[in-house]
Formats: sequence, structure tokens, C-alpha cells
Amino acid sequence: MDKKPIVLSGIRATGHLHLGNYYGALRNFVDMQNDYDCRYFIADYHSLTTQPDPSLLNGNVRSILAEYIAAGMDPEKCMVYVQSDVPETCEFFTLLNMHAYLGELEKTVAFKDKARKQPNNVNAGLLTYPVLMAADILQHKANFVPVGKDQLQHLEMARNFAVRFNHFYKTDFMVEPRAYEAKGEPIKIPGLDGSGKMGKSEGNCIYINDDDKTVIKKFKKAVTDMTPTEPNSEMNEPVKNLFYFLKLVSAPEVYDQFLASWNDCSIRYGDLKMQIAEDVLKVTRPIRERYEEIYADTEYLNKVRRMGAEKVREVVGKNVEEMRQIMGIKMF
Ligand code: TYM
Repeated sequence: MDKKPIVLSGIRATGHLHLGNYYGALRNFVDMQNDYDCRYFIADYHSLTTQPDPSLLNGNVRSILAEYIAAGMDPEKCMVYVQSDVPETCEFFTLLNMHAYLGELEKTVAFKDKARKQPNNVNAGLLTYPVLMAADILQHKANFVPVGKDQLQHLEMARNFAVRFNHFYKTDFMVEPRAYEAKGEPIKIPGLDGSGKMGKSEGNCIYINDDDKTVIKKFKKAVTDMTPTEPNSEMNEPVKNLFYFLKLVSAPEVYDQFLASWNDCSIRYGDLKMQIAEDVLKVTRPIRERYEEIYADTEYLNKVRRMGAEKVREVVGKNVEEMRQIMGIKMF
């Protein structure tokens, strides 16, 4: 039997999942689990860069695990695990760090951004964040990584580390991972405040867990800023963002109708926003309804964690051992 390609992806444990996480990553995870060898994790080490309250961190890991499962990820079909339950990752990370250079790490967009946002806490974990992410991926010898557009630079760095390592040790040990997005182009879900990106630190999120009233309220408040006064006018950024959502969640004929009403200036933003909110809720409501029960079941969640960690440690342990050997760390 042919071996299935390996897919690896993860989400930081910094609160509930939002629509960016869902459309940029989670939806792909769920869709891929039948056809690929999928390993999905919750990146709790990565969330430590902001030094969160320990009990909050633990709660976030739990809620994301429950959301993964509620969204349809099946822990029997794929390896679902928590990053810190697999300490082999730390060894892989340490070894990989020796081939990551200060200059390239300092130039990373995410690092520069975080260093600006938290000037009193520019810790070493922030700097080496991309190396840890590369270790997550490369330790699995993953072929594909489903991520949104915002993570492409980190993925590119993982590819560079892989190529560099192979070249340095004259080996083909490292596999070069590729981005994966089912619909072709990597996705970037915009914020509803007219800004570029939906994100937790931007504070502009619609969470999978938001109830109907909250989702509708958030869409009602979405920035639009302009009404078209001439047929076929150019849209501004906030309106383009709403149409982006509409294309993603609504039927093509609904999209065409609204576009036509934009072009002939008859559009009513209230209707547009309600349409998007209703169609988003068709996706998120069933997930939210399953979530509560899963979240409450401590025994089940711990079982999933243990099962995931056991399976991952077995496969990753072999790869770390191979890496040690290549680098000369072995018995006499
Ligand atoms: P994180 O937790 O910020 O986001 C998790 C996933 O959601 C995607 N995403 C988005 N996609 C489209 N539009 C948005 N507005 C949006 N916001 C978030 C992200 O692209 C990501 O796929 N460093 C990673 C976590 C990580 C990881 C890994 C991912 C650690 N190790 C190994 C893949 C492989 C992160 O902070 O994602």
C-alpha cells in the first residue's frame, strides 16, 4: 500500500478559535484527515512568548482541543496532540537552532511586529519562534502544512532550514514542507474593523464559539464607510472585506446578486451583513453546539491527549534519533 503524504499543522493556544483560524487552517485539517496521514497539534509552547497566566493557558489548550474535535477532527483517524506532551520537539528544536542565524531571525516580520507590540518583553522565545515552528514541522518529515497567508514566511523559513541542514550534512534526512490550501490560494480572513487581518491581538475576531446574537451584533457593527453613488464604483477596503466574506460563506448566486446591487447602487449594507452573519452561523452553530459537551468531558479529553502523544512520540522519536546520529550525537 502506498504511504499517504504527511500533513502537519497547529494553532497557538491563545484563546478560542476565530474565523481566520477556521477558514485559514482548521477547515483544511478536517477535510484532509481521510486522505492524508494527518498530525495536528495545539502549540502551547508558542503561546508562552507572551507569558500568559498559567491557568488561562491550560484552559485555552482545553478549549482548542474541544473545538478541534467539535469541528469534526477525528482523533482516531489523525494524531491530535498537545505540543508540550511531546518533549522530543524540544530536542529537535535545540539541534535545529545550531543552523538558524541571528540575522535571519531578527528580520522575520512576525518578530519585528511582536518586538514593537511588547517592547518590554522581547524574549529569546520570540526570536526563535520560527525555529520551534520549523521543528514542529520537520520532526514529522511533513509534506504539507495547511496554513493561512500570515504563516507563509515561517513556513518558508522551515524550508530553508531543511535545505540548509541537508546540504551541510550531505543527507536527505529533512523533507521540504509545502503550504496547502484546498481552494488554491492561501487565505487571509480580514477583520471587520476595516483592517487587514482578523487576529486575536487585533481584537477584531468572530469566534467559532460566539452565540448567534454576538455574531449578528459584530457583523452589524462592521465598518463600511461608503455608499456607492455611481454605478460600478471602486470598493473601499472595508466593503471589499465584506464581499470577501460573502464569497467565502454564501452561495455563488447570492454573491452575484449583492455584487449586482453594488454595481447599480441599490445595495443595503444591513442586508449584506445579515446575509453573511446567517451564512457564517450555518457553519459555526453546529460546532458550538457540540463543543460544550466535549469541553466538559475531562476523562475523554485526557484520553485523546494521551493517545495523540503516544502515537506522535513513537514516530517523532525515531526521527529525532536519526537527526542525533547525523549530527554525531551517538554512543561510541
Ligand atoms: P495561529 O495560532 O496564529 O493561527 C493558526 C492558524 O490560523 C491561521 N490564521 C489565519 N488564516 C487566515 N486568515 C486569518 N486572519 C488568520 N489568522 C490565523 C494561521 O495561518 C494558522 O494556520 N505559528 C502558528 C502556530 C504553529 C504552527 C506550527 C502552524 C506553531 N507551529 C507548525 C503550522 C505548523 C500560529 O501562530 O498560528
